Amino acid sequence: MSFARGSLLSSSIFRKQLVALTGLVMVGFILGHMAGNLLIFLGPNIFNDYADKLASLGELLWIIRTGLVISILMHIYFTAKLTRENSKARRTRYEVYTPSADNKFARMTMIYSGILLFCFLILHLTDFTLAEKEGAASVLGAQKLRLFGLVWNSFLNPWRDLVYILAVCSVGLHLSHGIQSFIQTIGFNHPRYTPWILKASVILGIIVAVGFSSIPVYVMVRQHTIGY
Ligand code: HEM
Repeated sequence: MSFARGSLLSSSIFRKQLVALTGLVMVGFILGHMAGNLLIFLGPNIFNDYADKLASLGELLWIIRTGLVISILMHIYFTAKLTRENSKARRTRYEVYTPSADNKFARMTMIYSGILLFCFLILHLTDFTLAEKEGAASVLGAQKLRLFGLVWNSFLNPWRDLVYILAVCSVGLHLSHGIQSFIQTIGFNHPRYTPWILKASVILGIIVAVGFSSIPVYVMVRQHTIGY
């Protein structure tokens, strides 16, 4: 049995499948989270109802959160392992290994955007998930608007807007680079499909960056024009 388990985890095909699967779980979460957040455009009632429905999932929500954390950890671990193996294999094949400028740029971008994302997540969870949703920070005008008010008031700070916009652009960049380098890692090279997958990865990155950024931009523009 231990042989079967050891050989499965040491199989590079299985590890690539795990990277793809955990990556898909995260892309699914990001798109779902973005769609949910865009409900802010429909006003406090719809946005807060959505958050209440999520919270009412109770234990199921904790199972989803646990799955997400496991996916993130597995994704980081196996991606780092595959990258190390790939560069080792290249070094063995050619005596002097010099990564191309493109390759090096993509790798450095992935590492830095990954670190930035991790820092952003800590700030983000403190901002909203762990914050007091019924407190003074949720009051807009004379109304206590709970999560909607909290998000709205947070985005009245231009520095926070800047940090969020930079972070969500990094998410978009990380996502599209991640898909591109994964295609390279598994050696998928189809004359017809590969260019389409590459284009789709860029479009997906742009949708994520623009979709999330539209929220702080909307709050700022609306506050300075018609007010809440
Ligand atoms: C403008 C951009 C964003 C807004 C307005 C936003 C809004 C929110 C809000 C309001 C919550 C708290 C939900 C609640 O406690 O009911 C939340 C939680 C969360 N957000 Fe975001 N978010 C944004 C971007 C992101 C991005 C880019 C990521 C990931 C890369 C992310 C990951 C998370 C995670 C992991 C949670 C915790 C989910 C949970 O508690 O189950 N968010 N977000």
